[in-house]
Amino acid sequence: MEKISLPGKVAVVTGGARGIGKAFVQRLLEKGAKLPSHFQVVILDILKDEGEASLKDLQEKFGRDNVYFYYCDVTNGKLFEDLLKSINKDIGKLDIMVNNAGVCNEDDWEQTIHINLIGVIRGTKQATELMRRDKGGNGGVILNMSSIAGLEPFKGIETYCATKHGLVGFTKTMALNSEDADWGIRYHCMCPVGVDTALVHKLKQITGQEYFDHAVEKTGGLLSIEGLTEEFLKMILYSDNRCLAIVKPTGVQYLEMEKKTN
Ligand SMILES: NC(=O)c1ccc[n+]([C@@H]2O[C@H](COP(=O)([O-])OP(=O)(O)OC[C@H]3O[C@@H](n4cnc5c(N)ncnc54)[C@H](O)[C@@H]3O)[C@@H](O)[C@H]2O)c1
Repeated sequence: MEKISLPGKVAVVTGGARGIGKAFVQRLLEKGAKLPSHFQVVILDILKDEGEASLKDLQEKFGRDNVYFYYCDVTNGKLFEDLLKSINKDIGKLDIMVNNAGVCNEDDWEQTIHINLIGVIRGTKQATELMRRDKGGNGGVILNMSSIAGLEPFKGIETYCATKHGLVGFTKTMALNSEDADWGIRYHCMCPVGVDTALVHKLKQITGQEYFDHAVEKTGGLLSIEGLTEEFLKMILYSDNRCLAIVKPTGVQYLEMEKKTN
């Protein structure tokens, strides 16, 4: 496996103020701290208090210049795109884009689509523009956060499932678009089973305890956040065309990127 050149990478993580996104930010910073030239990680989130608290904590551990937090609602297209452009301009580049922000709210299903699907498509397209080698960028990695609910249905969370299925199709197609092009970008999609975060508690409320327990059992149990972040780091650091990763407590199944046929 070819390893990407590590020093001085700049990463953006949406929804990085808490939960899985926060764990991803911390893991990137831990990895970067072992290198001569550290990773710089930018957290984008709507949670100002959690974002500021995470920033303070992570700056103390990893250095002031290595972590940033900006308020960003991924449904505000102009704000989101402008922030990515300024990060690329001010820090000097963008190497890793993690579109992680997501919600499950069937009462406001349109907002769920705006955040989970349109927000991720926007983040991917803008990061692609900034990273494309044929447009003067340095190439990079884009990882989109889907779910096991992007591969199979789960009762009661139909819009969430639709958005996560959409991300699988979208990311696979972006990977196909870049296959023969000189973009130098890898596209990955993560499909984890349940992880113990605020979101999974929301899912439990919606589906009810009995169905939730059945779904957890059917998908192999709850995944630890540490297990997920290890797989995340592997996907970011290794450059195989591993577009889609199903992550379970028992291990990871990589589905190879479909090859271009015409
Ligand atoms: N927890 C699980 O079981 C699980 C399993 C598979 C996939 N996922 C996915 O992982 C991702 C992270 O989920 P989590 O479990 O850490 O949940 P979480 O609720 O703890 O974190 C979600 C983060 O996204 C942020 N966010 C929400 N709306 C936003 C917006 N409009 N703009 C910017 N940020 C916004 C939230 O403020 C929060 O920080 C989601 O995409 C989720 O669908 C979660």
